[in-house]
Amino acid sequence: MRVPIIAGNWKMHKTGREAAELARQIVERIGDRRGVEVVLCPPFTALAAVAAAIEGSDVKLGAQNVHWEHEGAFTGEISPRMLLETGCAYVIVGHSERRTHFGESDQMVNWRARAALANGLNPIICVGETLEQRRAGTTVEVVTGQVRKALEGISRDEIERVVLAYEPLWAIGSGLPATPADADEVARFIRKVVSDLYDAAAGDRIRIQYGGSVKPDNIGGFMQAENIDGALVGGASLDAESFAAIVRYEP
Ligand code: 13P
Repeated sequence: MRVPIIAGNWKMHKTGREAAELARQIVERIGDRRGVEVVLCPPFTALAAVAAAIEGSDVKLGAQNVHWEHEGAFTGEISPRMLLETGCAYVIVGHSERRTHFGESDQMVNWRARAALANGLNPIICVGETLEQRRAGTTVEVVTGQVRKALEGISRDEIERVVLAYEPLWAIGSGLPATPADADEVARFIRKVVSDLYDAAAGDRIRIQYGGSVKPDNIGGFMQAENIDGALVGGASLDAESFAAIVRYEP
């Protein structure tokens, strides 16, 4: 039985003070919701404030990126142990905005995921195809290729702590989500890659999120899909009411 995981990716929104306020409102509105793991991923500068705001709740903290080295001359980067100290349990790696705007390669995504795992952080590894790739019929090839490269060198033990997020680029911030059936089909192929690389149990247990224009009115459909175990939410996670409604989806 896979425990669904719903994460809010706040991207480059909210100062520390604003983030703490939003986190408090979310905790309050989620209330007694059980059986769903909830993760908030604010910007680096707001991690400590959000950690304090969610203390005593079941909500977990995640970062939006991590470097693969412990420390060193890497101006502007943040290491796994820096994140651990702020209370992070999760870290998003390979988000398409990082791949597109900051030139992140599959190799870098793999290094980040491995460093996260080696240091006790759980990576949420993002994959997804562009509109051109979907139109060209290469979605499965592109996405499964990204998954294979991201997982290189990750052990059988470690794969238990990996979350994969399928986020088609054309659905992100567009208001045009994938259909649950389309997302489920890609997630099924992703699950098969994990089964092939590890074993059937690993494929069966890995959690796969859908991301891209998830809203309170469409989350239910995604959560009903057999191979989807949660969501990575952008825009709708910036409003306590809508994020809490997503977390409290009716199955
Ligand atoms: P939106 O929910 O705003 O489409 O963003 C999705 C996303 O990129 C989450 O990582």
